[in-house]
Amino acid sequence: MNLNKYSEIVFLDDTQKNCMSYLVIGGFKDVDKYVDDYDIVVAIGNSNVRKKIIEELENKNASIPTLIHPKAVIGVNVKFGQGTVVMAGAIINSDAKIEKGCIINTASSVDHDCIIENYAHISVGSHLAGNVRVGEATWIGVGATVSDNLCICNDVMVGAGAVVVKDILESGTYVGVPARKIK
Ligand SMILES: CC(C)(COP(=O)(O)OP(=O)(O)OC[C@H]1O[C@@H](n2cnc3c(N)ncnc32)[C@H](O)[C@@H]1OP(=O)(O)O)[C@@H](O)C(=O)NCCC(=O)NCCS
Repeated sequence: MNLNKYSEIVFLDDTQKNCMSYLVIGGFKDVDKYVDDYDIVVAIGNSNVRKKIIEELENKNASIPTLIHPKAVIGVNVKFGQGTVVMAGAIINSDAKIEKGCIINTASSVDHDCIIENYAHISVGSHLAGNVRVGEATWIGVGATVSDNLCICNDVMVGAGAVVVKDILESGTYVGVPARKIK
């Protein structure tokens, strides 16, 4: 976040655990004290929790920035929703649309014309070929690959290292090569 030119970064964390060297100044119950003066980023991996908190912040008219690491590579005409975070080394190619509250994680790639719906997470080192649609709150696991022109519906977990070669039209957990439903 400091690479996005913020001079002061603090955390609200209900577990009160320190986050690296950053100060924890309270829990989410304290957010009203800060909502008018700070930008607020929701740094929670679980999509449904992230969604709930972002919605609460929207109701409070919070300023929720979109954070893009300066060493991410972003093509032309890429659109981002509020609260999305793009980590170092990620590559997002032209005409992709990343909706709100998404995580495009370290060294992942999202190719041309992909649509990543709200609160989806594209994990570290995973790759989406061109024109893939990833549904709301779907999580593409670390190192997974999704072939081009596919659609993955809402609330899907694609396991680590899986290769998706067909549309996924039913929520659940999919693993393996090719990816198959296990739960
Ligand atoms: C898919 C996943 C969510 C399943 O977790 P789970 O629901 O706890 O399932 P389990 O660990 O009980 O595994 C169930 C079965 O699936 C197999 N399995 C689990 N994950 C698998 C994977 N990624 N690839 C292949 N098989 C997998 C297990 O070996 C187990 O098989 P068995 O019943 O023959 O022993 C999890 O293994 C995973 O891949 N998580 C990804 C985490 C990630 O990407 N983190 C990135 C953070 S940036």
